[in-house]
Amino acid sequence: MSVPAGSTDSVLDPEQRIAALRREIERHDHAYYVLDAPTIPDAEYDRLFRELQALELENPQLVGADSPTQRVGGKPLPEFAPVRHSRPMLSIRTETDTEASGARAFDSRVRRELGLDETAAAIEYAVELKFDGLAISLRYENGLLVRAATRGDGETGEDVTQNIRTVRCIPLRLQGEAPPVLEVRGEVFMSRPDFERYNARQRALGKAALVNPRNGAAGSVRQLDPAMTAARPLSFFAYGLGECGGWEMPATHSAVLDALGVFGLPVCVERAVVLGADGLIGFHARIRAARNDLKFDIDGVVYKVNSLALQQRLGFVTREPRWAVAHKYPAEEALTTVEAIEVQVGRTGAITPVARLAPVFVGGVTVTNATLHNETEARRKDVRVGDTVIVRRAGDVIPEVVSVVLEKRPVGEGSDARSQRPAFELPKNCPICGSAIEKPEDEAIARCSGGLFCPAQRKQALLHFAGRRAMDIEGLGDKLVEQLVDNAIIKTPADLYKLGLLALVNLERMAAKSADNIIAAIEKSKHTTLARFIFALGIRNVGEATAKDLARHFGSLDALMNADGDRLQQVPDIGPIVAASIVRFFAEAHNIEVIEQLRAGGVTWPEGEPMAVVNSPIAGKTFVLTGALPTLSRDEAKDMIEAQGGKVAGSVSKRTHFVVAGADAGSKLDKARTLELVILDEEQFRELLGK
Ligand code: IVH
Repeated sequence: MSVPAGSTDSVLDPEQRIAALRREIERHDHAYYVLDAPTIPDAEYDRLFRELQALELENPQLVGADSPTQRVGGKPLPEFAPVRHSRPMLSIRTETDTEASGARAFDSRVRRELGLDETAAAIEYAVELKFDGLAISLRYENGLLVRAATRGDGETGEDVTQNIRTVRCIPLRLQGEAPPVLEVRGEVFMSRPDFERYNARQRALGKAALVNPRNGAAGSVRQLDPAMTAARPLSFFAYGLGECGGWEMPATHSAVLDALGVFGLPVCVERAVVLGADGLIGFHARIRAARNDLKFDIDGVVYKVNSLALQQRLGFVTREPRWAVAHKYPAEEALTTVEAIEVQVGRTGAITPVARLAPVFVGGVTVTNATLHNETEARRKDVRVGDTVIVRRAGDVIPEVVSVVLEKRPVGEGSDARSQRPAFELPKNCPICGSAIEKPEDEAIARCSGGLFCPAQRKQALLHFAGRRAMDIEGLGDKLVEQLVDNAIIKTPADLYKLGLLALVNLERMAAKSADNIIAAIEKSKHTTLARFIFALGIRNVGEATAKDLARHFGSLDALMNADGDRLQQVPDIGPIVAASIVRFFAEAHNIEVIEQLRAGGVTWPEGEPMAVVNSPIAGKTFVLTGALPTLSRDEAKDMIEAQGGKVAGSVSKRTHFVVAGADAGSKLDKARTLELVILDEEQFRELLGK
């Protein structure tokens, strides 16, 4: 519909006129920001907008949160509130083989999981782009945008509603018959032209430019002042769903995206439904050729099994669905020269040779260092100072030296001029603390043997401890840690909780106000969770997901500390290597001392009961679930097994203890029969678990 020209003295009463103007503006916004096809001249749009603003000013009682005039309204926040996702925000597995074989491998895996043989028809896939920005969950209730949250750790994100409201292509109100609850997941990003335009303006104003579009998007969404976000040109594409209520969902992923488009949400047009591995490969190749013509950066393409029923059958491994994969492209490369080769010491003492490079622009950023991974790699590539090298930067990964351009190696004097510069050799001693560098025969990685005596390791350990996903001590960044360690103010994480204001204020370039803030942040971090604490300890091989599993499984730190290797391996996903790392960590008197000091310093978390596993007949046993059970979903069965200390594996082998089979169980059941494994139906399964 069209709004009759006129202004506040229109024949309609203000309420009707306001409603009509909003609809009209929303329609133009959708055409402009979502469809990229403007329907009216800017001046005309501005006139409508100003008329609405004037009417709302006269009738404040009629200003709703969904009015297009209310996108930027919020005040700066002190911090973002946490939001627990009603459905976890998952990530997708990345196929590292960037060739066609990568797509074939995914298709074969899906077919195998579904028990399809060569004669079965090709699988239908929804294929789309992998956008390079920040994942966001948008919650609409009765068609109104009520909350927007970042992904965070997948379970809990941050409430960024105020900021997301400023993104013009995200509707504040859905079009058509919107369901009562609709959670839309997608990516916020910055298009290349918007990025260029924004940076050109910043430079003209003498202000800081953004590093690349991705950082631009991620940083903008996490601005505490929504006015700052509003000033950054952001876009959004929907690619999936979270919680939905009261909606008869379509049967396929592609139809879900079509439906989201009808609700007025931006959905990228570069997507398709294809058949089998050949279809995947065709799309991968097509996008590869079109990539530079896209208006935004992508990180590869994504393949998803199109049928939602099949998706459900395929389920998940840890936090990644079996029905989706990200398929990347070979990374971007550039030529530069090596100015020096140094070594870096990581948190666990790992020694990494690093090439210092003449600055070069590659993959969207200026690169000055590239990793040579380890001694073997550095020698294999035979990188020497003065060499011209190919550097590669893929997405977020650390830039690496791919190879040396030997023809360009500087020619010196003497008969064998090319070998004038010495080949790389690992130093015998840590460049930071002087401790011996050790390299076990069977390992590629050399380590500084200094442990926490080594300031480099100490700094990394502290940074890890204070990290956002660990104890979350805001403001404790590398510069500060550097000073604290170099001035011997802090040796272990426990010392943080003994830190006085005075020690901080006396540091160089430390304002009293920031010292106050850091002390407050340290104080705040005392109340944490067991999972965060375990993760913060920096036990080798214990990442965030494992820390969560351990916390859930053991309930208390003491129970974890007392667990032996066997007991640890009853935790799903924990194998002998991780178990050994944990045992070794807690066997170290020094570590126990630090933990005791942390507890004495006031670090606390709620503790629970360990999961009752000791008496269960299934503790430590491996299950494989196949086919559809009459009443239990796959996730429910898995939860029941894990709650009693059992594990669920994806494929049947000699090591499988029980196979739980339902209707339409395919090749897994056949294999279980061949191997003469114990096969249970749902009833027998429940009996075994005592349910
Ligand atoms: S689907 C259950 N589709 O990639 C699968 N993700 O590791 C959930 N991403 O942080 C994700 N483009 O933000 C999906 N077309 C796309 C995507 C996409 C980009 C990001 C997403 C997430 C990461 C997945």
